[in-house]
Formats: sequence, structure tokens, C-alpha cells
Amino acid sequence: MIQPIRPRRSALYLPASNPKALAKARTLPADVVILDLEDSVAPEHKAEARAMAVVAVAEDGFGRRELVIRANGLGTSWGEDDLSAIAAAGPDAVLVPKVSSVAEVRAYDAALAAAPAHTQLWIMIETCACLPLLHDLAACAAETRLSGFVLGTNDLAKEMHARLSPARTPFLPVLTMTVAAARAHGLVVLDGVCNEFRDLDLFRAEAEQGLEFGFDGKTLIHPDQIEPCNAVFSPSPAEIAWAEAVEAAFVLPENAGKGAIKVDGKMVELLHLDQARRVLAVVAAISGET
Ligand code: COA
Ligand code: MG
Repeated sequence: MIQPIRPRRSALYLPASNPKALAKARTLPADVVILDLEDSVAPEHKAEARAMAVVAVAEDGFGRRELVIRANGLGTSWGEDDLSAIAAAGPDAVLVPKVSSVAEVRAYDAALAAAPAHTQLWIMIETCACLPLLHDLAACAAETRLSGFVLGTNDLAKEMHARLSPARTPFLPVLTMTVAAARAHGLVVLDGVCNEFRDLDLFRAEAEQGLEFGFDGKTLIHPDQIEPCNAVFSPSPAEIAWAEAVEAAFVLPENAGKGAIKVDGKMVELLHLDQARRVLAVVAAISGET
């Protein structure tokens, strides 16, 4: 299923057990807010975090922000209770961790059977076992609620025994293949987090790398990362001007019926018109016009 375009430049995680962060997230310019019940919540706070996430969905106050809850895995002692509470709460999406098989995607989909139709399923791409299966996992979108991939570079680095260097060299094939599988099946695809939340130069470079690979946006851990992330993932004035010029050129009478034309001294084809329309749709979504 092709998803309507929504701005998903910045997706901020916060521990759902942190009331201060929950209040603050309603005021921050993140496109997506992910209430975490999993890695950032200690076992003794799991039940409390689940209850707080459910209350947050009911109270809302998140405006245009897309509200997502990250559940604990079905293989843990909290997973089933998380999924049934989230299904009843009905956030925009539920994000599930450490998925390594098509059977797991189906199990999460089944666990959300009672959720409202608008509740999407997003899965973390963060295990070694899922890497050869990216296309099979993404193809589940045709028959389940699955509509998003979220890269989990911290867990992946842990499993691979890889180092999280600024260039992310060990993960470059994963970035490519994750985006390609998501695009092949119409999924949203978000990049992993940058742990160095005090180093915004490093953050910006990593966000630009994610943009270059084709991600829709990046997951974040700290409010200071939101503004640079939104800036990186918003189409630039030059890109918007190019998109408008391409769209305008194709409707000129002298270009009627042509597949390849000239804009600003360069060849553009109908595939570029599709790209231009996507840029303009993203701009409209960011400005709230769609
Ligand atoms: N969402 C919302 N608000 C957040 C936030 C987040 N992810 N992280 C920090 N804040 C708030 C703090 O509560 C504080 O609010 P205040 O100004 O009202 O006091 C402000 O932003 C500044 O926070 P700061 O002191 O710089 O950071 P910290 O030491 O309180 O927290 C972390 C640092 C890393 C523990 C925290 O940012 C965090 O929990 N991040 C999310 C972790 C997570 O969800 N991980 C799972 C996915 S990898
Ligand atoms: Mg994790």
C-alpha cells in the first residue's frame, strides 16, 4: 500500500516512564514522537511506562505529531501485555523490536487485530538475522499493517561486534539495503540514532549521510537534535526551485507529449518529473497543506 506523505524528518524517542519528557515532547518540533517501553525503560518501570503511554495517547495534546509506541518484544515477559494495551489505546503506530522473521511480523500483526485500522505496524531493523530477509519482511506490507522500517544501529552494532564510528562504514550496506527494501514495498524508512547528543556537528553529518542514502528521516534521542534534523531532511530552496521548474517545463505546449526535455541546460525525463512532484508533496506535507 502506498502511504500518504507525512513529514517524518525527525522521530524523537523518549522513555514513556519519564513524565518530564512526555510533557516536553508535546512542545517540541519533532514530526514523530516515539514513546519507548523497551530499551530505555528498566524492568522495574515497564508496567508504569506502559500505563503512562496509554494515558498519553488518550490525553493526546501532540497536535500534528505522529504518535508511536515502541513495545517490548513478544518473546519477553512484557510483550503480550504491551501489545494488547497498545491495541486498545490506538496510537498512530506501534514499533516492535528485534524482528528476525516473517512469522514474527505476522505474529505482531495478529497481536494488533483489535487495534483501530489507523494503527500502523513499524518494525526495528536491528538484528543480524533480519538482514538477508529485508525484502521478505517489507513484502509483508501487502497483507499486514506493516508500513515502516526503523533502523536500530545500537543493537545491530552490539550483535555484529561492530564499532559505531562517525563514518558508519560497517553499516553502509545495511543503510542501502534497508532503504531499497522499504522503497520496493512502499514503506516509510527512518535512520538510526546518533548517541553523541552533545556533538551537533557530528549529528548533522550523520543526518546528511542518512538523507543521501534516501531515508525519510532520522530517529533521535535528545531535543537538541530535532532542529538540525528537520533542517537536513527538509527539501532545500534549490531543490524546491528545481522541482517547480521541472513541473512548469513539462506543461509548456512545446514540451507536450515529450519524455525528455531540457531544463536549465540539463536533460530531465519523466522520472525527474516524478521526483519533482515528490519533493513538492514533501514540502506541502511539512507545511501542513496535505
Ligand atoms: N524527549 C523529551 N525531552 C527530553 C528528552 C527526550 N528524548 N531528552 C531530554 N529531554 C528533556 C529533559 O527532560 C530536559 O528537560 P528540562 O529542560 O525541562 O529540564 C531537557 O530535555 C534537557 O535534557 P538534558 O539535561 O540535556 O538531558 P538529560 O540528561 O536529562 O537526558 C538522556 C539525557 C540521553 C538520558 C535523554 O535525552 C533520554 O532519555 N533520551 C531518550 C533515550 C531513549 O528513548 N532511548 C531509546 C531509543 S535509542
Ligand atoms: Mg534496541
